[in-house]
Amino acid sequence: MHNFQQIQQQAREEAQGLSDVKALGAYRLKYLGKKGIVAEIFASLSAAVPQDKAAIGKAANDLRALVTQWIEEKSKGLAPAGSPLAGQDAGIDPSLPGTAAVLGRPHLLTQTIDEIIDVFEKLGFASIETPEIETEFHNFTGLNIALDHPSRDAFDTFYLDQDDPGAKGRRLLLRSHTSPGQIRIMKEHKPPLAVIVPGRVYRPDAVDASHSLMFHQVEGFLVDRKVQFSDLKGLLMEFCKRFFGSSLKMRFRPHFFPFTEPSAEVDISAETLGIGKKKWLEILGCGMINPKVFEAVGYPSGKYTGFAFGLGVERMAMLKYGINDIRLFYQNDVRFLRQF
Ligand code: DAH
Repeated sequence: MHNFQQIQQQAREEAQGLSDVKALGAYRLKYLGKKGIVAEIFASLSAAVPQDKAAIGKAANDLRALVTQWIEEKSKGLAPAGSPLAGQDAGIDPSLPGTAAVLGRPHLLTQTIDEIIDVFEKLGFASIETPEIETEFHNFTGLNIALDHPSRDAFDTFYLDQDDPGAKGRRLLLRSHTSPGQIRIMKEHKPPLAVIVPGRVYRPDAVDASHSLMFHQVEGFLVDRKVQFSDLKGLLMEFCKRFFGSSLKMRFRPHFFPFTEPSAEVDISAETLGIGKKKWLEILGCGMINPKVFEAVGYPSGKYTGFAFGLGVERMAMLKYGINDIRLFYQNDVRFLRQF
């Protein structure tokens, strides 16, 4: 039978003498490894006489427990071999590289919204958020979108189960654009007004590379006396150049929106954006606010004129940064996000 006391004594002395991580590894292997001393003692059980077996088993278990404990104690204070602190019982090794703190940053959509707000604030606009849960009045009726307008049926709008407490028989909904912000703000404030309304909008579209059932828009409007279409043009040209770069070419193309008259869509030139040739890319809708909207918010008839516009944030970011799939914004894959 082994002299267990002696083995234990030697293991203790060796543990005390361990001076670096490498030596600790060798020590662990010597005692606890597959062919180590503890395993060897267990292996000797089969050849031992029956009355010794219990003592041998206990000795092996005790040794394993002690060695494990000494290794744990030692490993807390050991420096790697070769380090200037090896051989000392150092709590820390200042020569080791540190653990870098991972710094986060705002999501690309947040950055883009902030950038858009920044440009408009410098041009004299105030930024105000309005609710995502809206009434039919704010989302449609006040904006001169008729009851039979196709975008009003359930297919294009998420309706809530909850009724609008202010309008009998009408339901609340998730706003399908930021234009209801115009109605809310005009109802509460008198002109002159120059406001942008950033936020989320919802549409029950099938999700693909260019559609999402939730996305972001920034609405903008300016109301005063004697506002002209040329004011709208000048403002949007200035905005687009500041956002995309001063060599950008853009055009205003006639369009229809119920809440503006006349209305236009703005396209920017792909070529001047540096992505492809001779193609016009639609980026926003705009126009002179329809007098019916002023009527809906209770402004005196004929007193004010104004313009409005609405742009899609994802679309702006995709064009500016060359992103080809809208879903990338929502997957929160840091390999994508940390590029911006
Ligand atoms: N609300 C429109 C949409 O979601 C965008 C829009 C177009 C807003 C023209 C406006 C505007 O203010 O004048 O498609």
